[in-house]
Amino acid sequence: MDKKYTDLQKRILELKAERNALIFAHNYQRIEIQEIADFTGDSLQLAQKSAEITGYDLIVFSGVRFMAEMAAVLSNGVPVYIPDPGALCPLAAYANPEKLRKKKEEYPGAPVVVYMNTTTETKTETDRICTSGSAIEVVESLGAETVLFGPDANLAEYVRRHTDIEIIDIEPRGHCYVHNQFDIAQLMLLKEEYPDAITIAHPECPPEVQEAADIIGSTGMMVQAIENSPNDTFIIATEMGLIQQLQKAHPDKKILPVWEGAICRQMKKHTLEKIIRVLEELPEENLVTVSEELAVEIMTVLEQMNKLKGQGPAKKVVTETAKISL
Ligand code: 13P
Ligand code: SF4
Repeated sequence: MDKKYTDLQKRILELKAERNALIFAHNYQRIEIQEIADFTGDSLQLAQKSAEITGYDLIVFSGVRFMAEMAAVLSNGVPVYIPDPGALCPLAAYANPEKLRKKKEEYPGAPVVVYMNTTTETKTETDRICTSGSAIEVVESLGAETVLFGPDANLAEYVRRHTDIEIIDIEPRGHCYVHNQFDIAQLMLLKEEYPDAITIAHPECPPEVQEAADIIGSTGMMVQAIENSPNDTFIIATEMGLIQQLQKAHPDKKILPVWEGAICRQMKKHTLEKIIRVLEELPEENLVTVSEELAVEIMTVLEQMNKLKGQGPAKKVVTETAKISL
């Protein structure tokens, strides 16, 4: 086996082969998990990939729980295990079915779109589910004048700025505690220091950070944008797991994080040791289950999302110094 792997990684690769398993990792996973993953991507890509799986006996899904639940709904019966079942995205707490029902009463007839990072119960109260990579496309596909959207208010603002549709926040206080901390002053300093750099921000960042970016997009779009760009310096406003992936994939390019403290503690709950335990023991508590009833409802809204390709980056700026080809 390749010497570049550590002993823990080698053990996972052995177990993976024995179990005929696949490992999925979100772009924010620890780099050592990404290195042994069969597929790494953003939440939309992971959901889409789950729906394509055939010929495998199980999936170990390293991401937050709601992403793993989506995989379990879409995986055509292939069991999905999560290395740490406590990996919950705190953003989900900003939306619940009761809050949604109240909003719907305030805006009768307006369809509801919620972010993937919500509980399964909240998802079933909605018309559509979106990811950061599909938000604009999903909202536009409804053909409505007004759409209730949440729970991330920064993502809602991103959709508002890029469509003519009236976007009503389900919860104006909803935010991701990692992305909401990106600071415009810090970003402007970096931009001053690297005037030729292309700035890419996640749509969960505050509006002023999005405004200062050349490209706004999901983590998957960031990967593509850098792969396809001839530019060699990028300033990135997102979680450090993706920054590490990009630095590794592009040693010839400068990948500069806006803030090195951007670490999602929930995503980092998964470790190599926990993946080994799952593959060795297949513990019941790590099996991701969604009730049949919820799965059917989720499937209906997900089918709509899955038909969409995911829109391209929302903002393409080609300046004299920064030429982007996407
Ligand atoms: P992506 O779908 O862009 O990977 O985002 C998921 C997420 O949790 C961002 O914080
Ligand atoms: Fe949730 Fe933010 Fe972590 Fe993404 S980065 S999983 S939105 S807490």
